[in-house]
Amino acid sequence: MDLKAFIKSQKIVALSPLDGITDEAFRLTQSQIAKPDMFFTEFVSAEGLAHNAVKLFDSLLYSNEERPIIGQIFGKDPDSFYIAAVILCYLGFEGIDINMGCPAKTVTQHGGGAALIDQPELASKIIKNVQKALSDFSQNKVNLDDLKLKKKVIDVINRNNKYSGFVGKTIPTISVKTRLGTLSDTSSTWIPFLLSHHLDFITLHGRTLKQAYSGLADWDSIALAAKLCHQSDTPIFGNGDVQSRQQAQEYCQKYDVDGVLIGRAAMGNPWVFSDEKPEFKEKFKAMLLHAHNFTTIFPHRRFDPLRRHFLLYVSGHPQAKQLRQEIVKLSSIDQLYTLEERITNW
Ligand SMILES: Cc1cc2nc3c(=O)[nH]c(=O)nc-3n(C[C@H](O)[C@H](O)[C@H](O)COP(=O)(O)O)c2cc1C
Repeated sequence: MDLKAFIKSQKIVALSPLDGITDEAFRLTQSQIAKPDMFFTEFVSAEGLAHNAVKLFDSLLYSNEERPIIGQIFGKDPDSFYIAAVILCYLGFEGIDINMGCPAKTVTQHGGGAALIDQPELASKIIKNVQKALSDFSQNKVNLDDLKLKKKVIDVINRNNKYSGFVGKTIPTISVKTRLGTLSDTSSTWIPFLLSHHLDFITLHGRTLKQAYSGLADWDSIALAAKLCHQSDTPIFGNGDVQSRQQAQEYCQKYDVDGVLIGRAAMGNPWVFSDEKPEFKEKFKAMLLHAHNFTTIFPHRRFDPLRRHFLLYVSGHPQAKQLRQEIVKLSSIDQLYTLEERITNW
């Protein structure tokens, strides 16, 4: 089933993109424990992809188990979005999502992410260039040679495709993930503006740029936006503060959205998509699986960033404090195995 049909066939509970968190090791672990209905990659710079930044292709690694998967791109240069979109087509993503919601200064001060909400002309050019890229790709009017990418980029595209097992041709959906507004909630004009571009779906995080992650997501505003979206037959996913699959399903009914993205609640808790309440032993097994996936997929990376995940896996454990003291010292998977043995005697 193609992604458009899939989205219309059921309420979707998807994993939200989390930069620095939902990398391939995280998503693979997530899919092995409790698979969401859909995945997003972390955001990747369109300008970086267009300018041969091979390292960024690590963030676009995905395995076949993670389908349907949407590649998310951010930036502010429409020409780079054209190139990045063609690259994502060659990587076999079911969807391309344009980030118009990131509040990080490093992104907004260059005019990308949520700053695009206040630059509708630029936002429009970006969407149209992604649409043009997909139209050209589907009609064989553009190929990788036309992009004049360096050989190292072609090699890394081939590496990613070997990893995912992707062959063939998929025409991705085009979507935008955004917020209610920048300084205040302007969704009653911003959402119709986006809708005039005939997107395949919209994701709306119920906060403004100014709010970043403070306060609570405004689901009543999301519901109002959902009404506008449904008038033009465009699916909308709500996002913000959802803690479980069950809550996501309730919100789909209560706020009349077509799906929900769950982000932070999945950190250290892959069971968020199955609503199981695992024993600690099982949580430790998940940590080991996550560490195993990470060290296999990224053998040259430092182990330390995994500590952030492990600290969350152990929250709520009666000896969490003691465990945290051990976790912050971990620097290899072997040490994690040793810790597992040691805590059986605690
Ligand atoms: C650490 C972190 C990284 C994030 N990275 C991205 C990103 O790359 N792309 C994006 O669209 N949103 C990103 N977000 C926003 C989340 O996808 C989501 O919209 C937000 O956290 C609200 O949902 P939640 O309450 O379920 O976490 C990020 C949020 C956090 C906390």
